[in-house]
Formats: sequence, structure tokens, C-alpha cells
Amino acid sequence: MNIIFLGPPGAGKGTQAQKICAALNIPQISTGDILRRAMKEGTETGKKAKSFIDAGQLVPDEVIIDIVKERLQMEDCQGGYILDGFPRTVPQAEALDTFATIDSVIELDVADQVLVDRLSGRRVCVKCGATYHLSMLNGETHCSNCGEELIQRNDDKAETVLARLKVYHDQTAPLIGYYEKKGLLKKIDGAQGLENTTAAILAALGAKA
Ligand code: AP5
Ligand code: MG
Repeated sequence: MNIIFLGPPGAGKGTQAQKICAALNIPQISTGDILRRAMKEGTETGKKAKSFIDAGQLVPDEVIIDIVKERLQMEDCQGGYILDGFPRTVPQAEALDTFATIDSVIELDVADQVLVDRLSGRRVCVKCGATYHLSMLNGETHCSNCGEELIQRNDDKAETVLARLKVYHDQTAPLIGYYEKKGLLKKIDGAQGLENTTAAILAALGAKA
């Protein structure tokens, strides 16, 4: 099954994609993770992306489309995948239509006030990328999966979060209508607890845990 996770920053795309990918045994393709890795490694793509990401803006379509196109051709994507954070603009969605067939689009719906709290409290593992929220860590500063340090993402600073939310509403939210018209959109309440959200997504996909 080829699935898109659509939703604002902090909606839980990454958290839920990890769970659903494990349940369905398919890879999670997170464009945000790919770009952060490229920045860390100092590649040409990473250098191009850095100023956009730090400002909470989208990297240009031409940078990201080729990356996804190449990634989806790899062997591990042939049995399905979850796209987490792509497409994010109508031109990206139109490009995707030329090289992939999408079966379902899961829209995670969460109110802006909740998102600001989630992002300001988010901590991520420097090594394995596992995601936590301060409210669940009880002072713990290291990853329960791999023991490495937990850090705050650079773009989770308050002012950048507000810029990212505006970008979502202006440039990405139009994709809701785009996929609704194609009959692919499934809207999920992303403000319920983690487990209820996972169960709701699996039910919408017609899959079992
Ligand atoms: P990206 O990394 O994709 O960031 P994003 O879309 O802003 O989304 P986030 O990763 O911040 O949120 P999420 O929905 O994954 O939430 P999470 O599960 O972590 O992109 C970063 C940047 O890269 C972009 O700004 C852009 O510059 C660039 N980029 C990436 N893709 C691009 C593209 N296609 N085109 C152009 N540019 C691109 O959860 C958040 C927090 O909430 C966590 O702390 C989590 O523990 C908590 N939480 C999650 N679910 C729940 C719940 N149900 N209840 C309580 N807490 C919860
Ligand atoms: Mg994410």
C-alpha cells in the first residue's frame, strides 16, 4: 500500500508513521529526516536546504522532488511505503502523480494551539530519531531505544514553529482538497491519545495491527 501522511507540523506524522510502518512492514520515507541527515553530512542538498529549514520555510520543489523520485525506486519501496512530509505543495503532488500511484492519504487533524505545545516540548534522539515529548520523559535525557542523547530540533524554537504553521496553512493545506477530489483522503483526529490515533489510522486503511 502506498500511503501519504498529510498534516501540520507536530500533528504526529513521524510518530504514527513509525508505528504504522512497523505494523505493515513497509518503509517510512520522511523528507524532513532525509534533509536533516543531508545537513548533518554537509552534502550539497544539505547546504541548499539549511537556510530554508532554519527559517521554517519549505525547500524548493525542484530540490525535494528528485530526492523522493529516486528514493521510491529503491527495492524496499516496491511493496509499499508511507510518505511522511511529502508532498507539501500542489506542484509536488502533481509531480508525484507522474511517478507513483497513491492508494490512501491520511490527514492528521490537530488544532494549532495543541501543535505549538507539542513542538516546543518535542525531543528527538540524535542517533535513531525516536520522538518524545517532555511530558512523557519525567526528566529522562536519553533515548529509551538506543541510550543516545535527546535534543531539541533547531526548527522547534517558538518563532520558527509559528512560521512553519503559516507555511502549512498557505502552501500545504490546499492538498486536502486535491486528494479529496481524487477520493483518497481519510481524515483522522490526531488529538486523541497515541494508541487511539494508531488504531484509527489502521482502521481507515482497512489494516489490522
Ligand atoms: P518535517 O521534518 O517533515 O517537519 P514537519 O512537517 O514540520 O513535521 P514535524 O516532524 O515537526 O511533526 P510530525 O507531524 O512528524 O510530528 P511528531 O510525530 O514529531 O520537515 C522539516 C522541514 O523540512 C520543513 O519545515 C521544510 O523546511 C523541510 N521539508 C520537509 N519536507 C519537505 C517537502 N516535501 N518540501 C519542502 N520542504 C520540506 O510529533 C510532534 C510531537 O507531538 C512529539 O513530541 C510527539 O511525541 C507528540 N505527539 C505526537 N502525537 C501525539 C499525540 N497523539 N498525543 C500527544 N502527543 C503527541
Ligand atoms: Mg516529523
